[in-house]
Amino acid sequence: MKIVSVVGARPEFIQAAPVSFALRREHREVLVHTGQHYDDAMSRVFFEDLNLPAPDYHLGVGSGPHGRQTGEMMARLEEVLLRERPDLVIVRGDTNSTLAGALAAAKLHIPLVHIEAGERSFNKFMPEEINRLVADRLADLHFCITRRAVKHLAREGITEGVFFVGDVMLDAVRIYLPRAMERALDLLGRLHVEPRSYLLVTVHRAGNTDNPQRLAGILSGLNAIPEPILFPVHPRTRQAIARYGLQAGPHIRMLEPVGYLDMLALEAHARMILTDSGGVQREAYFLGVPCLTLREETELMETVEVGWNRLVGTDPRRILEGWQFFRPAGPRPPLFGDGHAAERIAAILGQSPPRFGQHYRRSETIGRLVQEAMGRIPLPS
Ligand code: UD1
Ligand code: UDP
Repeated sequence: MKIVSVVGARPEFIQAAPVSFALRREHREVLVHTGQHYDDAMSRVFFEDLNLPAPDYHLGVGSGPHGRQTGEMMARLEEVLLRERPDLVIVRGDTNSTLAGALAAAKLHIPLVHIEAGERSFNKFMPEEINRLVADRLADLHFCITRRAVKHLAREGITEGVFFVGDVMLDAVRIYLPRAMERALDLLGRLHVEPRSYLLVTVHRAGNTDNPQRLAGILSGLNAIPEPILFPVHPRTRQAIARYGLQAGPHIRMLEPVGYLDMLALEAHARMILTDSGGVQREAYFLGVPCLTLREETELMETVEVGWNRLVGTDPRRILEGWQFFRPAGPRPPLFGDGHAAERIAAILGQSPPRFGQHYRRSETIGRLVQEAMGRIPLPS
């Protein structure tokens, strides 16, 4: 098959890597970078760290308001799809690149595959929630990272072509963590921190960065914590901090965004992670690092329910209290599969390439396909 994979933002490069390696064993992948993220620290470093092949197309769309950014991506993606005429298009996650890829493919009647389908925050104020709802409605095949995501889709009437395969971000951790750990102590030395004696923070959600009260709440919570903090700052957040004139205390080390291997190393050795990122919440869980989530809700409620993640929002008192008292110790069940999601995805696509607008017979969906593909690569129960 010829498969067009659409990527554009930082987490999509990471999610693309394991899938790309698995697909390229048997298929031809055409990698399209929309250009949504373009700074070296937001894009190039990931291609290097992950050994991801250079994009076949770079659409150079860049930043902008949602409508213009998504529209430009759609227009340029349409040209690529008309030229390449792929057998299917893969989008992942919930960015504007996901939305544009899904719409462009569906309008050209090209079968659409959504990886990380069925995630829901139930908060339509998040641009990501809108992007996911549309991508899931249009996709012909849905690959879910948790069993709960399968249920979310079912509640919306989407039951055909739905597979729980696990999280490709866990595949990435499995593949890249050994390399990250080789450089970890060097990196920590350069940053003058010891393992398990610092906090790692990331913030980039629109809901936090576009709201001065919420961002000020986060910073004042962090300022009140008497422990070294490493904070790789997303460009959007750096601009917002400057715009609102906020100050970070001297114990907070504001870094440029770091590459994936450095990020894994910093996560693995952190005593605690504070974040509003979806990917970072999951990585904290994979690595067994307590996580305080700087939001009022999360798509990843399972991690909260098993006690490894706590929602603290942006109120400085709740952040401080979480820092003081949150000490998870229970087991971490394999909510996100076993780190072999990409192989399952490739196996399912190879055995039954999706057709546009296909109505799978239920027996086909949950019978032959699942047994053949998943039987070869069993999931933990
Ligand atoms: C996007 C995704 C979000 C994802 C995040 C991953 C959407 C709607 N949002 O958010 O779901 O969690 O990526 O990091 O798709 N900027 C730069 N350099 C860059 C990229 C961005 O300076 O390389 C600045 C620009 O000022 C830009 C702002 O960051 O306007 C926001 O970038 P954008 O891609 O629109 O959204 P993110 O906040 O990165
Ligand atoms: N990440 C990184 N460097 C950073 C911050 C994040 O490599 O400075 C990685 C992180 O480890 C995770 C992914 O980027 O794999 C998450 O992306 P982000 O937080 O930007 O988006 P989200 O997951 O919330 O969509």
